[in-house]
Amino acid sequence: MAVRKICIWPDPALSEIATKVEVVDASVQTLVQDLFDTMYEAHGVGLAATQVAVAQRALVIDLDPLADAVHDSEYAEQLEAWGFKGPQAFINPEIIASSGSIWWEEGCLSVPGITEKVKRFDEITVKALDAKGEVFELSASGLYAVAIQHEMDHLEGKVFVEYLSKLKRDVVKRKMLKLKTHTDDGVEAAL
Ligand code: NI
Repeated sequence: MAVRKICIWPDPALSEIATKVEVVDASVQTLVQDLFDTMYEAHGVGLAATQVAVAQRALVIDLDPLADAVHDSEYAEQLEAWGFKGPQAFINPEIIASSGSIWWEEGCLSVPGITEKVKRFDEITVKALDAKGEVFELSASGLYAVAIQHEMDHLEGKVFVEYLSKLKRDVVKRKMLKLKTHTDDGVEAAL
């Protein structure tokens, strides 16, 4: 168990295209556990290995990191409608079916404090390996589909701000470079 350092965009590590995991061995399982630990510590709902400078095709998602659904039946129903069944690791994920479109205000632990609307598929079916190395398929919609697509982009070296216009992206970049200076001085990033 370990919390790793999250790279802040435009860190070059975030542009690396991740390679396929050949065997889900103990080192991959440690990576997955560290991704969960790092994501929870940073109060995120998803994290890709690329974001901790590991160019391997692995990501984790938990849309209910504070277990709110236990005492919020509306949220529990929403999570169920999205196809979310609990914390999930996706290794070598592939989208095997997709339909519809949805605009969602996205954020990213690698671009703290910034949210922007991005267009994604509304419904996807994903095939991947779980943390035990077993193949599974799941269908996701709404925020779950958005989160999976956002994290899968990271594995292609793509960060959501790259969907923005150059002008907006440059503004974000300047903010991040300023923030990075602060972070390097020992001040924690906001997200
Ligand atoms: Ni992200």
